[in-house]
Amino acid sequence: MANAIDTIHTDHANLTKLLDAIERQLAVFDAGEIPDYDIIRGIVDYCLNYPELYHHPMEDSILRRLRARDPAAAEAVGDLEAEHQTLKAETRRFAAAVDDVLQEFEVRRDNFDAMARDFVEHYRAHIRKEEEVFLPAAAKALSASDLAEIEAEIGPREDPLFADAAGARFEVLREKLIEWSREAP
Ligand SMILES: [Fe+2]
Ligand SMILES: [Fe+2]
Repeated sequence: MANAIDTIHTDHANLTKLLDAIERQLAVFDAGEIPDYDIIRGIVDYCLNYPELYHHPMEDSILRRLRARDPAAAEAVGDLEAEHQTLKAETRRFAAAVDDVLQEFEVRRDNFDAMARDFVEHYRAHIRKEEEVFLPAAAKALSASDLAEIEAEIGPREDPLFADAAGARFEVLREKLIEWSREAP
């Protein structure tokens, strides 16, 4: 069974696919065409769901253990909890902007584009730091029983988009992602 660190790596790969998908839609938008806002909304809904309910709490839990096992390494990682709160606020702002577009409220194109690009860029930078600094430090410092405790603390989870047994909620988005992965060079 995948341990907590493996799960976080997998989540990052999945989140990166979603950030790529947002950028793909932004390229459509920048070309003056209409992107698929339902797809963007689906991605934002997912970001409000699984990462906030499981992914970030699991990382926070890993960091708490890293602080106990290797305080210097934890110090180098910095304040992930605060970054998660910032990402949460940015995700909500972006979700509200997508809702405004879907409800045909007046939204300035350049504002929407800048907000979407900031969202993608901040998420990517956060993931990069976790992959390069946080997870290697955690893999080195945490024992198997630390990881088992983290799993127990966070509890069972089902990724509503990427799990094999995912339900119907993100069906359309899931099909789109498969379609795009086939088109990718
Ligand atoms: Fe994180
Ligand atoms: Fe993460």
